[in-house]
Amino acid sequence: MKTKIITTIKIRRPDDLHVHFRDNDILKLVVPYTSRFFGRAIVMPNIEPPVININQAISYQKKICNAVPVEHKFMPLMTCYLTDNTNPKVVEEGFNCGVFIACKLYLANGTTNSKYGVSKISNIYTVFEKMEKLGIPLLVHGEVTNSKIDIFDREAYFIDLVMNPIRKKFPNLKIVFEHISTKEAVQYILSCKENLVATITPHHLLFNRNNMLSGSIKPHLYCSPILKSDIHQKALREAITMDCQLFFLGTDTAPHVQNNKESSRGCAGIFNAPTALAAYATVFDEMNAIENFEAFCSLNGAKFYGLPINEGFIELKRKKVFINEKISHNKINLIPFLANEFVDWEVNVV
Ligand code: NCD
Ligand code: ZN
Repeated sequence: MKTKIITTIKIRRPDDLHVHFRDNDILKLVVPYTSRFFGRAIVMPNIEPPVININQAISYQKKICNAVPVEHKFMPLMTCYLTDNTNPKVVEEGFNCGVFIACKLYLANGTTNSKYGVSKISNIYTVFEKMEKLGIPLLVHGEVTNSKIDIFDREAYFIDLVMNPIRKKFPNLKIVFEHISTKEAVQYILSCKENLVATITPHHLLFNRNNMLSGSIKPHLYCSPILKSDIHQKALREAITMDCQLFFLGTDTAPHVQNNKESSRGCAGIFNAPTALAAYATVFDEMNAIENFEAFCSLNGAKFYGLPINEGFIELKRKKVFINEKISHNKINLIPFLANEFVDWEVNVV
């Protein structure tokens, strides 16, 4: 039972620790939606071609910075896309010179632009060794890619078949289990305690597969990892109420143009940057866990990555805000998460 209605939430400026900014015109359109409220974002490297070396990361970072409106105070943090051929020396140099904050592991062909990903984990053991030694975090898209394994089970299988073996071999490797979507992942994070944390998206907290598939198919809720049943959604919602520093904000905002979402072969990914904070606040409020909201948004992730807490604050006011049906520029049309609906919180920088 709720004791009192909270009308205002003031928190330190948050970080989004899992973002896809894409490239070129889409990048210019989407970056301000993140830079407006977030102090930093960890930028996924799965553009075409992927970010696999220091120069690419520097030039991608510059493009992002150029798209940040002057009045925003924002820093994109870059990641290195791991391939079968990643050279540990490149990772070391990129980390030591402050360009790479982490490395991203996609198993080959698991998700959008992962075809250059790792085909066999043992191919990059020398990279993991180096990362473990230097304290470079490994960000993991945690789904097996075997097409014989049911899509709803791919995360749970990943824990047994990939994550656990990596953690056994490299116990001091810092790992972020990205966008967790199952009760198995929640339990696994809670059982490990050391060197393993997880990001949770707003869409996995707000919705389950019924919302996506029942009655009509909602392509704008289609994402990777796919939404699971309500049992899993409940486990994630419980996780964010725990006062344990193991879970933090990573929206996985992943814009695809409208035509590529509303298609006979629709792309996985939800453009949630414009609504993510309001959506998270709704869930924390529903769970009666607003006291954990700031740690989730602004403290736990920074601590894990060894970053200072952001200067400045944002404030969320309880107020109905209508989310536009579309965000468009030139010929690009993007459908934001919760389009055509009201969210319960208005966000402002204070
Ligand atoms: C992401 C994308 O489109 O880049 N899609 C998604 O559904 N989350 C890739 C990813 O993070 O798996
Ligand atoms: Zn992602």
